[in-house]
Amino acid sequence: MPSPNRDYLTQLLDAYWFAPPVALWRAVELRTLAHESFPRPILDLGCGDGLIAQVLFDGDPPIDTGFDPWWDQLRQGAASGMYRSVQQAYGNAMPYPDGSFGTVFSNSVLEHIPDLEPVLHESGRVLRPGGRFITTVPSDAFRRLLAGYRACAAVGDLTGAEAYATRIDTRLAHHHYHSPKEWAALLERAGIRLLSARYYLPASVAAMWDKSNGDFGITEDGRPFYRWLASPRLRGLGFQALVRREVVRRFGRSWRRPYEMDVPEGGVGAGLLVVGEKM
Ligand SMILES: C[S@@+](CC[C@H](N)C(=O)[O-])C[C@H]1O[C@@H](n2cnc3c(N)ncnc32)[C@H](O)[C@@H]1O
Repeated sequence: MPSPNRDYLTQLLDAYWFAPPVALWRAVELRTLAHESFPRPILDLGCGDGLIAQVLFDGDPPIDTGFDPWWDQLRQGAASGMYRSVQQAYGNAMPYPDGSFGTVFSNSVLEHIPDLEPVLHESGRVLRPGGRFITTVPSDAFRRLLAGYRACAAVGDLTGAEAYATRIDTRLAHHHYHSPKEWAALLERAGIRLLSARYYLPASVAAMWDKSNGDFGITEDGRPFYRWLASPRLRGLGFQALVRREVVRRFGRSWRRPYEMDVPEGGVGAGLLVVGEKM
């Protein structure tokens, strides 16, 4: 069972040691998701390599179904042992009968799909009445919480701020950022009632995450040293196990507070957990 008391930070630093800011974002995401219940059968929309489902549902029996359009990811998802079955499919044409799932779960996927409405419609179709739709996406506040955006905006350079955020949109292939109100309307058109929209990754953590992407060479204009250190080409030299242990040890401590920080009541965060119910 997902549990907010589990240490997702350590698990994800170990899995994503080569890109520690990715681990931080995803760990906060899982801590936020872990408050939810996931009635079975579960469909993982855009399951990718299955790692996130593996960490979230650790110790549970495999979840029911995962699908993804990308064969390479899907092969890893199938090999993860996390799914009873996996299919190659797109979100706008799901190969499942009406009303066949208790939960449609989608983690960090929908922001990458330009035309959202057919995917939401399909999610509504495959959910049984009362079934849950659970998704995490970057929020409507994502762009303006980036450290690079804030640095430009603080000196009145709004053109520079927009250009910065647009570079991030392009790099991450983000197509949209909807507010809770927009999610309510989008879901309603798909026959899903919005139950809650909860922000995660408060402003200070979002800014830290953005800056860390540069520090770890994840952004092209960042410092390249760590990217070089973690490069797969150097795997054979044997030192990366030490780097990995050190990342888990060091950031498991120093990022503990950011990992555990909630968005203050009435505030916004860079991530949004959207939960709906099939009408
Ligand atoms: C950032 S990854 C997230 C994967 C996984 N959910 C996770 O949290 O690790 C985004 C995934 O969305 C998938 N994807 C992209 N377009 C899609 C579409 N139209 N329908 C379903 N999945 C899609 C990609 O293949 C990729 O595996």
